[in-house]
Amino acid sequence: MIKLPGLIDPHVHLREPGATHKEDFDSGTSAALAGGITTVLAMPNTKPPIFDAETLDLALNAAKQKARCDYGQFVGAGPANANWNESGREALPLQAAGLKMYLDSTFGELRLDDMTLWMPHFENYPKNMPIVAHSESRSMAAAILFAAIYDRPVHIAHISLKEEVLLIKAARERGIKVTCEVCPHHLFLTKEDIPAISHGHPGRGEVRPRLATKEDVDALWRNLDVIDCFATDHAPHTIAEKDSDNPPPGFPGLETILPLLLTAVNDKRLTLNVLIEKMYTNPKRIFNLPDQPETWVEVDEDSIHEIKASEQLTRCGWTPFEGWQVKGKVRKVVLRGKTAFEDGKILAPAGYGKNVRG
Ligand code: DOR
Ligand code: ZN
Repeated sequence: MIKLPGLIDPHVHLREPGATHKEDFDSGTSAALAGGITTVLAMPNTKPPIFDAETLDLALNAAKQKARCDYGQFVGAGPANANWNESGREALPLQAAGLKMYLDSTFGELRLDDMTLWMPHFENYPKNMPIVAHSESRSMAAAILFAAIYDRPVHIAHISLKEEVLLIKAARERGIKVTCEVCPHHLFLTKEDIPAISHGHPGRGEVRPRLATKEDVDALWRNLDVIDCFATDHAPHTIAEKDSDNPPPGFPGLETILPLLLTAVNDKRLTLNVLIEKMYTNPKRIFNLPDQPETWVEVDEDSIHEIKASEQLTRCGWTPFEGWQVKGKVRKVVLRGKTAFEDGKILAPAGYGKNVRG
């Protein structure tokens, strides 16, 4: 039996408000607990998107009623909401996990193509609160330049390419305040795996950033020391949606991240200390998260089992890792003194989760 701290996933899509047939704060935080995660930070590309006090309240009220683990909610950077420091609005960023900026192609309406739209967000968003950029390749280079110009920290979401990890390494060596995360699907899958994931439905292989080449994946593993966090980018879409003519991009990940990474620990590709650093110590520091006293995760490190969507708590009903043999299973999660998950059962009631900015 291994004991881990309550793990943190700084990048999840819980689909509330607006698409609760895919996931909501109840099913999403249940999936998190089953995955050994006690804090999730939810992205703002919902319907409507979370970008002002009213929409933030929508999400936070739902979370307060339903969440079974602790949570934070990002606000999204839009073309017209960069006046963060105007009177009456200063309090808003303090209630949010951070600011999410979509600088590249994504799912939903929040996208800032024009760099003049980025500038006021970098100027006005409080420097002690996190900015997370969805940026790929050259737009990531631009986001790093913005971190340098405005001299403030920027966290790059889901890096997937060799050029990205090498650029972040070089930027950090020059003192630029850039941190980053990588998702399990960009560490364990390449684009060669798309046919096997797809089962004849090419939409199942769609994800942004796209699955990359073996050379990219090898570069991520070789440069793990540059990567601050492991994050799922848990992006549930139902199997019917994935198999439709217009498949939305995204993979679920909350219930598979830990078994996949524990398998990598078993294979000596990773140490347990590095896993704890990237799923607890670093995200706690980067996102300025509170302590969770009397909180831990018990893992049976010897349990060999098969990943099966039919056993998962996410509402989306599928996983790109279907049938994979993994070693390491979450047995029990204790959150703030209460057993929240044990032997496959969620025991924390809806509403037990606390807002990390509350
Ligand atoms: O694959 C993705 N899915 N990438 C994104 O940027 C958004 C996400 C989603 O919300 O489904
Ligand atoms: Zn995302």
